[in-house]
Amino acid sequence: MKKHITNQELLEALNSRYATKVFDENKLLLPEDEETIKEILRLTPTSLWLQLHRYIIVKDKKLREKLKEASFWKQQITWSSLLVVFAVKTGFWKHDIQKYLDKLQEVRWVDDEKKESIMDRISTFILEDNEKYWIENYEEWQTRQAYIALWNIITSLSLMWLDSCPIEWLNPIEYDKILGLREKWLKTKVALAIWYRSEDDGYQNEKKVRYSQEEMFIEM
Ligand SMILES: Cc1cc2nc3c(=O)[nH]c(=O)nc-3n(C[C@H](O)[C@H](O)[C@H](O)COP(=O)(O)O)c2cc1C
Repeated sequence: MKKHITNQELLEALNSRYATKVFDENKLLLPEDEETIKEILRLTPTSLWLQLHRYIIVKDKKLREKLKEASFWKQQITWSSLLVVFAVKTGFWKHDIQKYLDKLQEVRWVDDEKKESIMDRISTFILEDNEKYWIENYEEWQTRQAYIALWNIITSLSLMWLDSCPIEWLNPIEYDKILGLREKWLKTKVALAIWYRSEDDGYQNEKKVRYSQEEMFIEM
């Protein structure tokens, strides 16, 4: 089967990616790029298919100004063409599983009996067998799903010749207040500023600082 992209092209894109600090004000995202970005995020897989995290796209300039203050005055927050905040749910309930199963039934025809058995399996796994683990750690587990989405989009953007900067160093409580997320049963975890790099961004010429394969891999 033909590869979507050659190994060399893929590594070139990944080597060219860096946490971009200065953007080109003359280049804005095209509407079709924004649509593709949303679709890439939507296609990100999640554990047990549950899709519990949410993406908040912040366009409003006043909100962005407030978020900048809550992000230790990072320019990327107001400069970027697109700002995505990754949030997770403040709780996890049986109706979240039901919602997924209804969607499953709508998309792939499954009968009620099969639906019932999937519900049993998922809730046994989450709510009974691992009761302590899941209830105490559901937030950490959801956060992992949000970070998978974060890196999925960052890698994909590099293939689209688009640039980005993940922003973890922010005040999540302030973000939640500014965006009214608690009313939506959501909590901020991380943000991503998306844009085109400026030629003046010196970071793009810096060598990658990474340990060697020998250091990072243990082969058995
Ligand atoms: C999860 C995550 C959170 C990050 N948060 C920030 C941040 O808050 N501010 C920032 O300037 N860079 C942030 N970065 C960028 C990293 O510092 C950067 O990716 C790392 O130094 C490696 O450099 P490179 O991405 O340019 O190869 C973050 C990166 C990751 C993966």
